[in-house]
This record gives sequence, C-alpha cells and structure tokens, in this order.
Amino acid sequence: MSDLVTVEDSGGVRTIRFNRPDKKNALTRAMYTAAAEALESGDGEQSVRVFVLGGQPGVFTAGNDLIDFMEAPPRIGASDMPPVERFMRALLDAKKPVIAEVDGVAVGIGTTLLMHCDLAYASDQAKFKTPFVDLALAPEYASSLLFPARLGRSAASDLLLLGSVWDSDRALQAGLIAGVFPSASLSEKVREIAAALAAKSPAAVRQAKALITSEPESVSDRIVREGGLFADMLQSPEFAEAVGAFMERRKPDFSKFG
Ligand code: COA
Repeated sequence: MSDLVTVEDSGGVRTIRFNRPDKKNALTRAMYTAAAEALESGDGEQSVRVFVLGGQPGVFTAGNDLIDFMEAPPRIGASDMPPVERFMRALLDAKKPVIAEVDGVAVGIGTTLLMHCDLAYASDQAKFKTPFVDLALAPEYASSLLFPARLGRSAASDLLLLGSVWDSDRALQAGLIAGVFPSASLSEKVREIAAALAAKSPAAVRQAKALITSEPESVSDRIVREGGLFADMLQSPEFAEAVGAFMERRKPDFSKFG
C-alpha cells in the first residue's frame, strides 16, 4: 500500500485518505490503485461497514496529476483498465456506503467523484471545480449525465462549461454535498456520522443503498421490488434484534451481523 494513500480501520469505518499534500493531493496511477484496493478489499470484509474518503487538512485533491495524464493518458473502457477507472469502478460498485470528507480544493475528479459517493460533507473552506473545458478536455465518469440530472442544467453548465469555482454554500444549495462544517471540526463530524451508519444493520444499509443507486424503473415496479425485500427482511435476525432492542429499551447491537 502506497503511503500516498493511507488506510485506517476503526469501529467499522475504513478511512481512506489521499496523502500527497505537497502536490495538493494530485492523484497518480499508484494512488488510484491503492485507493481502489482499499475499497475493493473493504467491501468484502465483514468488519468494514462504511468507507470515508478524505484528504488532508486544507486539501481534498487537485484532481488527476497532470503529468500522469500526459505520460499515460487513460482510455476508459480499454481491456487493460487504467487505474483511475479501477478506482472509479470500485467507488461505483461499493455495496457499502462511502462518505466523502472535503476540506480545501476538490478539483476535477475530486468533484466528479462526489456524485458517486453516498454522502459528501465539506468544510467551510472547500472549493469545488471541474475545469475540463478550460483544459480542452471532456467531462468524465458520467458527470455530463449526473450533474444535470441531480443539480439541474444551469448548475451543471456552471460547473462543466464555465468551470466556475463553487464554495461550500453553493455546493450545499445545489445538493452536491449533504452538509457543511467548520474546517476544524469536519473530520470529527464525519467520524460521528460514519460511526452512526456503521452501527446500523449492515444488510438494511446495503439494501437501501442498492435501491437508491439502482437504475430507474417504474414506480409500480419499484414498489413491488421494495415490498419483496421488506417481506424478506421482516424475517431476518437483524429485524428481530431491532424489535428486541425497542422492547427492551436498549440500543440494537448489529455487530455480529455481516
Ligand atoms: N497535477 C500535478 N501537480 C499538481 C496538480 C495537478 N493536478 N495540482 C497541483 N499540483 C502541484 C503544483 O504543480 C505544485 O507543485 P510544485 O510545488 O512542485 O510547483 C504543487 O502541487 C502546489 O500547487 P500550487 O498550484 O502551487 O497550489 P495553489 O494552492 O496555488 O493552487 C490548485 C492549488 C489546486 C488551485 C492549483 O494547483 C491547480 O489549479 N491545480 C491544477 C488542477 C487541475 O487542473 N486538475 C486537473 C483536473 S482534470
């Protein structure tokens, strides 16, 4: 594991941090590979319930390393999958929730990847920017689809055409992030949120995430699909634990469930 990406497991939360502050956490192939491995392995480990993806104080990431881009231009969809694609696919494919923690700059893929996280929190010092057109490049990782769909066309064009810099308030207002905290308390707040999520029924969290992230279908089909899961989960030991805890006026303990 490269020390340019750190991985720490604690209380069911795997925290993956970009760690190249002298280069504003610009992401190299080795960093993508290390982060992808941490996501892929954690998704299969029962002890890991939630991922946190962050940077260092004052810097999330300046996006793809521009030298790396010149030396080894990635071709998405190629048979020899480039590390950046492996990382983004690991993010997309993660069955467990991923929470992004953004302090300082989130440029390029640093903003794009937020669309593929379940929750994103930022500090009041965060700055978001996707300068692809300014670099004479194209949008990436379905941001041309997801930004308009989730943020609206004007906001998407502000980011993707104009390359505007958004502060945290703008990002919160647009729905790019779920909350803003002072820089000094961001990590602690995210840790609390991640710990709360990690304490919930893992199967219920996985099912809810799978439903939230699955492709569109008719309302009627979705009701039937949710209903089938609901009926199955009413029979689960995790539901029995939740109800037992309610009856006994205690907190549920889902730690033994995978
Ligand atoms: N790729 C490679 N190196 C990068 C980089 C990147 N994406 N972003 C920053 N760096 C390097 C700088 O070259 C500099 O290296 P040096 O100290 O050896 O000269 C170091 O990181 C610090 O960057 P600097 O520009 O001095 O910091 P800043 O605080 O003034 O500005 C940014 C920070 C992120 C606004 C600015 O670095 C920037 O715009 N970077 C490019 C972002 C980008 O275009 N990303 C690709 C998107 S597809």
